[in-house]
Amino acid sequence: MPQPEGSTPAERLAAAFGWSDGELAVGGVSLTTLAERHGTPLYVYDAERMRESYRALSEAVAGFAGIYYSIKANPNPAVARVFVGEGAGIEIASAAEYIAARAAGATPERILFAGPGKRPDELAYVIEHGIGEIHLECAEEIARVAAIGAALGRPVSVAVRINPSAAAQGGAMRMGGKPSPFGFDEEELETVIDTVTAQPALRLTGIHLFAGTQILDADVLAGQWLHGLRLAARAARHLGRPLETIDLGGGLGIPYFSSETALDLARLKERVGDLVAVVRDEPLIRDAAIVIEPGRFLVGPAGLYVAQVLASKVSRGTRFLVLDGGMHHHLAASGNLGQVIKRDYPIVAATPRGRETALCTVVGPLCTPLDTLARQAALPDCQAGELIAILQSGAYGLTASPVGFLSHPTPAEVMVDGGKVTEIRPRGSFDVPMALPGMGAGTGR
Ligand SMILES: Cc1ncc(COP(=O)(O)O)c(C=O)c1O
Repeated sequence: MPQPEGSTPAERLAAAFGWSDGELAVGGVSLTTLAERHGTPLYVYDAERMRESYRALSEAVAGFAGIYYSIKANPNPAVARVFVGEGAGIEIASAAEYIAARAAGATPERILFAGPGKRPDELAYVIEHGIGEIHLECAEEIARVAAIGAALGRPVSVAVRINPSAAAQGGAMRMGGKPSPFGFDEEELETVIDTVTAQPALRLTGIHLFAGTQILDADVLAGQWLHGLRLAARAARHLGRPLETIDLGGGLGIPYFSSETALDLARLKERVGDLVAVVRDEPLIRDAAIVIEPGRFLVGPAGLYVAQVLASKVSRGTRFLVLDGGMHHHLAASGNLGQVIKRDYPIVAATPRGRETALCTVVGPLCTPLDTLARQAALPDCQAGELIAILQSGAYGLTASPVGFLSHPTPAEVMVDGGKVTEIRPRGSFDVPMALPGMGAGTGR
């Protein structure tokens, strides 16, 4: 990987992709070349950087946990295929994500299905086609999965998703420890286990926790995982037999803002050593397959959102760059995807490197002030036709955005792998299928 260089934090992050003749490049291919071939706006993903993240994390959790890629972070099958190729399983939250996971090469037993509202037709679809484990999140789902399993004559492997207590908190978006639609409250663990084990069509294999997302502190993460292990041991004691699986969730963060630093994987590895000892000392969880299911950490740093400047204008002393892309493709960068404080994603001019910068506001083409991609961006004096890249954009980008708003074309997605460029989604054709293959009528869409 080239040495990070550059005068702003964003330029230093960009340097991890590399430069070619002073232009920002991915896998040696300049953004200008990619934009000429695939148009703008454009999502660009670097497969080699995905592998780097996967391998670094695998190394940190080696001997403790396996990795399932949370495909909601970026459901393009070509992206998921990179992780499947590295040995990852896939965590899904819908039947369409199941299809994406299979298209990426995941075998059914390496797919986990979690989510607070799984429709009966989705459950039937995955049970019929094969699934590693379904994570049960409410009483109705226990009954539904049991009925489908019984009707198909197939016992279904299930885990109980637990909404952990406040003791397991941390991270930017807390998803546990408070009233929550995700899973069962920790306080109900034993009752839920009894309800599940009373169903002959269900095989209770494990428990699942997901305590929060965008966690940058290795100790907070390890604390959550320890809490999960204790809960798993408690569940196994109540069951009276060892657990087969323990899913400790995702939530590993990446730095977006200059105040944030990357998750310290060396520290995480140290803490994992302690956790391995905890597992070894508890016979009822000693042989369980422990998994984590990160999304953002694996794919976020590998992606760029590239847009073209349409206008550079000054209004009452503030310089605005108006781009051909905006929040309809990248809601998170506009600060409207659940952020409490709107802060700027790292943003750079694609070419050339090393120009003097001044603060400006970067906006998209939508007719709303919400469509602001950066408020205080240090950028050179870019003119119409120049390219701007938003970094850390591989996760929760295109598919986490209101692509239909104002009916602009959707961007293409391209994957660069060692200099080879593949268009993995064409421009303007982001269609949600009206019916999923083999599901018949009544998909609810
Ligand atoms: C159940 C579950 N697993 C994994 C993830 C992935 O989270 P992250 O991308 O923060 O790792 C999410 C995100 O919402 C989730 O809900």
